[in-house]
Amino acid sequence: MKVHVIPLFPDLVRQGLSEGVVSRAFNEGKANLDLVNPRDFAEDKHQTVDDKPFGGADGMLMMSGPLEKALSSIEEPGEIVYLSPRGDRWDHETCVKWAASKPAVTLICGRYAGVDQRFLERHKVREVSIGDYVLSGGELPALVLVDSLVRQLPGVLGNEQSAIHDSFSGGLLEAPQFTRPREDVWGWVVPEVLTNGNHQKIEEFKLHMSVLYTLRNRPDLLSESKPIPVVKALKYGLGLSDVELKSCGLRRTWLKDKYEQYKD
Ligand SMILES: C[S@@+](CC[C@H](N)C(=O)[O-])C[C@H]1O[C@@H](n2cnc3c(N)ncnc32)[C@H](O)[C@@H]1O
Repeated sequence: MKVHVIPLFPDLVRQGLSEGVVSRAFNEGKANLDLVNPRDFAEDKHQTVDDKPFGGADGMLMMSGPLEKALSSIEEPGEIVYLSPRGDRWDHETCVKWAASKPAVTLICGRYAGVDQRFLERHKVREVSIGDYVLSGGELPALVLVDSLVRQLPGVLGNEQSAIHDSFSGGLLEAPQFTRPREDVWGWVVPEVLTNGNHQKIEEFKLHMSVLYTLRNRPDLLSESKPIPVVKALKYGLGLSDVELKSCGLRRTWLKDKYEQYKD
């Protein structure tokens, strides 16, 4: 995938992609990163890229001129996106779909109060939001899109980091995970089933826990996906010992209440 980013602060984007698996993916050529600064296309000696909005609104707006030139310097822009709080909310489903189908994306980062609307309309730009809050610029949202897209590309995550158990992958949140020691100095234990090497039982634990975590944290996801064995998961949870439940952050009273609610 070719990733073009049009930011006024390219160093923010460059630095944000300079560590970890995503950085390695770029270094190994699994994705290409191209940063184009609209300021390089400004025409006056002060390299002006913004001006006052018509209608007397507050703040400044990015002018279309430098943005137009920055965009036309890109040979194959692919899907053109303006990061914007007004946009469609970025989510796992869209991310996976784009990673599999878009050979190139161009991400336009706004600053100030935003961008001249005519530029967005002329290029049928798709507006994408990373959440219902307002940031000072589109560079951080662009990093969110790039990171989430690139980690979905083939070969970017090794087996040891496979995304199949990641939250949202099967419509559920990820199950709790534990590492050594089996019992820590505070006396908290790892659930027995995870330590005995029985892979079928381990998968069973993960599935039931995913259902329980989703039920507790994001019940909205359960109604959206295929029928989920909630009652089975609640029964499974009730079968765990108190110390195991404590390590998983689940309360027996909550499991009982939910069981009563769902059993019919
Ligand atoms: C201060 S914001 C402008 C917000 C704009 N006046 C509005 O109310 O929609 C500056 C830039 O940050 C980016 N931005 C801020 N919040 C964002 C969000 N939640 N998702 C995506 N981009 C965002 C956009 O590129 C935006 O142009």
